[in-house]
This record gives sequence, C-alpha cells and structure tokens, in this order.
Amino acid sequence: MRIDDVKKVCVIGGGLMGRQIALNSAVFGYEVRLCDASDEVLGKVRVWLDEYLAGRIAKGKMTKEQTEEYKGRMRIAPSLEEAIKDVQLVIEAVVEIRDVKFDLFRKLNKLVPANTILTTNSSTMVSSMFKDLVDNPSRLANLHYFNPALVMKLIEIVQGDHTSDETAELLMEFAKRTGKIPIRLTKECEGFVVNRALGALKAECLKIVEEGICTPQEVDTGLELGLNHPMGVFRLNDLTGIDLYFHLLEQMYKDRGIKPAGYDLYKGMVERGELGQKTGKGFYSYKKS
Ligand SMILES: NC(=O)c1ccc[n+]([C@@H]2O[C@H](COP(=O)([O-])OP(=O)(O)OC[C@H]3O[C@@H](n4cnc5c(N)ncnc54)[C@H](O)[C@@H]3O)[C@@H](O)[C@H]2O)c1
Repeated sequence: MRIDDVKKVCVIGGGLMGRQIALNSAVFGYEVRLCDASDEVLGKVRVWLDEYLAGRIAKGKMTKEQTEEYKGRMRIAPSLEEAIKDVQLVIEAVVEIRDVKFDLFRKLNKLVPANTILTTNSSTMVSSMFKDLVDNPSRLANLHYFNPALVMKLIEIVQGDHTSDETAELLMEFAKRTGKIPIRLTKECEGFVVNRALGALKAECLKIVEEGICTPQEVDTGLELGLNHPMGVFRLNDLTGIDLYFHLLEQMYKDRGIKPAGYDLYKGMVERGELGQKTGKGFYSYKKS
C-alpha cells in the first residue's frame, strides 16, 4: 500500500478522541467512516459535529461551504461492517480495555483485506499486543494522537518489530497530509515518548500530594507558573479523563502487585463520578455545556 492509495479512512470509536480524529482526517481531504458500539454516542457525535462546525463558522475560522464539504466527507456509519467497507486505513480509538480491543482486532482481521493498514490510538497498549490476532502484522502500528486531536499537532507513530518500514513511512506521510507533525519511534516502549516523560513527572507530583506537601491544584500552579507548562499534570488529567488514567493505574496494580501512587485518590474520584471535564468535575469544576 502507498500513501496515494489511501483515500478512505475508518475510525472506530466516536468518543473524545475518535470523533476529532475522524473530523481532522475529513478536513484534510480523506473520506471518513466513523462507527461506535453505542448508538447513543453516535447521536452525540452528530450533535457535536454540528455544534463544532457552527462554532468555527461563528469564529470566522471556516466558511459554511467548507463545513459542508467536511461533513460531506465524514459519514457516521451504523455498524463496524459498514464503516470498514473499502477503507485503506483503520484507526482504532475505542475504550482503553484490553479485551474490547482484542475482540475488535480479531473481528477486523476477518473483515478487511490483509493489506489494509491497521492502527491503534491507544496510549498504553503497544500494537504488538494485537499482532497474533491479525494476518500480516507488518501493516499494524500505533498512531497516537494527542487530546484535543483537532488542535494538537503531534502524532507518535510507534513501530513494533512486526511493523514494516513501509507502514511506518505511510503513517508518517498520512500524519503530515492531515496537518500534523509526526515523530517516529522505531521501538515500542511504555508511554511512548510524551507519556513516558509525563509519567515520571506525574509520579513525582502524586508523591508530593500523598506526602501531604500540598494540594494537586497547588502542584499545578507550581508547574504552570514555575516551569511555564501550559497545564499542570492534574489539570491535564481533567482534560484527558480521570477514568482513563484510573484504568492505567488498575492495570499497573494488576501487573505488578504494588499499589501505584495515586491509586486511592483516582479510585475515589471515579467512584464519585468525578471524571474531569466530561462530567463537570475532576480536580477542578467546569460548567457543563
Ligand atoms: N483521552 C485522551 O486524552 C487520549 C489521548 C490519546 C489517546 N487516547 C486513546 O484513545 C482511545 C479512546 O479514548 P477516548 O478518550 O476517546 O475514550 P472514550 O471513552 O471517550 O471513547 C471510547 C469510545 O469507544 C466506544 N466503544 C467501546 N467499545 C467499542 C467497540 N467494540 N466498537 C466500537 N466502539 C466501541 C465507546 O462507546 C466510546 O464512545 C483509547 O485507546 C485511549 O488510550 C486517549
């Protein structure tokens, strides 16, 4: 497969990330098919799409004609089977649960030809986890966007031992053609580049909170004003989802048997439904839109 052969992209999962990845691809000229296991989510994506595009028109960032063109290229498909028909590139952005992704890659393997490029947007699962589930794993890699995917320029392309250079190069080019600046990791590692570096910072920040030195909000103020970080680690976590980070902590606890820093704090927040911006409360409070 060459990059010029890629015309249609399928995004699976219409949550926080998937809907933005889909629209970003449509803005840059790709035909996109988006699906989700939940009809309710698909309904929300339709409302979000209209509101988002209307907002861009109101701000003078897009014309009405442009928004119609983008919408025309982005089809919300009622099923996975419909969504993956005739696509050359699949971007998986479903919930960060291992078994859900395993089932999906098993299904995908049956549904698409063996040269269709398969990617995962997972932040914590490397694509080699799925390599035994698909024929021709040379077409499999991580294509890792950042939140909000319509705004953030960076994409990490992670090449496992199974990923061919051809696939990695195609994905680098796809990222560039969709307005992003990609970095290529030629080995898989936990956290990739950004979350690995952030993880070290965050672990230290959590220890500071657990040692009772100061509050999460004060840690954020320290990072924002002392290091000029645009967002402290806790404010950033409200944006990316408290539940998502808790899934990661739960997995670490299961794998290592040692309770990771912040586990109780995040568990309590998830139990109280304080999932960050999406529920109106996390480390900070937000007005629900
Ligand atoms: N949230 C972030 O900041 C962020 C950043 C980079 C990468 N990611 C990765 O992106 C992926 C999605 O994260 P998110 O924050 O968008 O999650 P989300 O919970 O907002 O959305 C996940 C969606 O997957 C859908 N889903 C679940 N099972 C499905 C299935 N079998 N088929 C189709 N759809 C299914 C759910 O209905 C939901 O709409 C995860 O792998 C995560 O690691 C997230």
